[in-house]
Amino acid sequence: MTLQNLPPQVRLIDVGPRDGLQNEKQPVPAAVKIELVHRLQAAGLKEIEVTSYVSPKWVPQMADNHEVMAGITRQSGVRYSVLTPNLKGFEAALQDKPDEIVVFGAASEAFSQKNINCSIAESIERFAPVVQAALAAGIAVRGAMSCTVGCPYEGDIAPERVAYLAGLMRGIGVQRVDVADTIGVGTPRRVQAAIEATLAHYDIDHISGHFHDTYGQALSNTLAALELGVWNFQSSVAGLGGCPYAKGATGNVATEDVVYLLHGMGIETGIDLDALVDAGQFISEHLGRPSGSRVARALLSKRRG
Ligand code: HMG
Ligand code: MG
Repeated sequence: MTLQNLPPQVRLIDVGPRDGLQNEKQPVPAAVKIELVHRLQAAGLKEIEVTSYVSPKWVPQMADNHEVMAGITRQSGVRYSVLTPNLKGFEAALQDKPDEIVVFGAASEAFSQKNINCSIAESIERFAPVVQAALAAGIAVRGAMSCTVGCPYEGDIAPERVAYLAGLMRGIGVQRVDVADTIGVGTPRRVQAAIEATLAHYDIDHISGHFHDTYGQALSNTLAALELGVWNFQSSVAGLGGCPYAKGATGNVATEDVVYLLHGMGIETGIDLDALVDAGQFISEHLGRPSGSRVARALLSKRRG
């Protein structure tokens, strides 16, 4: 790795309120989620993935989607995104005026079945009218691509399958895509191969990295993606998260850790790390466990002297 030609600035999408909290065993009150969003935007986050409009039987933690979206005091210049797996979810989301909706597919057939109960091809059929309706309503559309490196059911995933999914997403009008390592098994070269496969259909400005940190590789993978020119990343404050359909997978890379890495290399994020650590501390205290962010733990211990 040469660490040359890295992007001068990076846009972080905090997915903690959605990807982070969807997996919590204990119910998290809507008021706490709203406060978390407020703290994230106060810390300088310009994109926040707030909630999802999925079946409450499948993911009970997101059943308060309307309440959370309605409770947020929006800040201008901040993009609020939500997950919508089908038209039913999109119609529910529309009432809450998100800036961006996210359709979510997988490069692995088995994961597609487990997560959204349909094949990859069927998922694209379901997404197509959602994408059309969103674009017609002036709402931006992102596509999450799960299991681009490995799958909890199928093992290694070949880059060709990522290219296939990216091509399908492009074909239905999805504007930008997330290359997700859902279970955090990726290592830098494999993550780069998934990104390179995506580059067959999307330019670098429309690709984001979404790395779970299960095997402790997410920061290395972030650096590997930066080296290819990726400058959009998803992360979760305090390293919250996991997917209920990816057993054993832990949270996203912690936003605090990514910010520390980037600022340390002179890459701008517009985020105030101290305020972000406070936001992470707020949610960690509520959940009754220490932050999953190494940087947050280090800075908090330094503050205590
Ligand atoms: P299904 O059972 O195939 O759907 O589920 P269906 O159309 O047959 O409907 C069955 C029931 O669900 C009906 O209700 C529908 O009304 C209801 P019933 O008649 O039984 O009472 N339903 C809905 N309710 C609310 N909102 C909706 C909706 N659609 C149907 N939108 C479905 C298909 C996608 C709904 C289901 O599989 C589901 O909700 N899955 C949850 C998926 C999920 O949220 N996964 C976690 C997020 S993805 C992720 O974390 C990965 C990511 O972070 C990237 C990465 O790391 O890889 C993005
Ligand atoms: Mg995820």
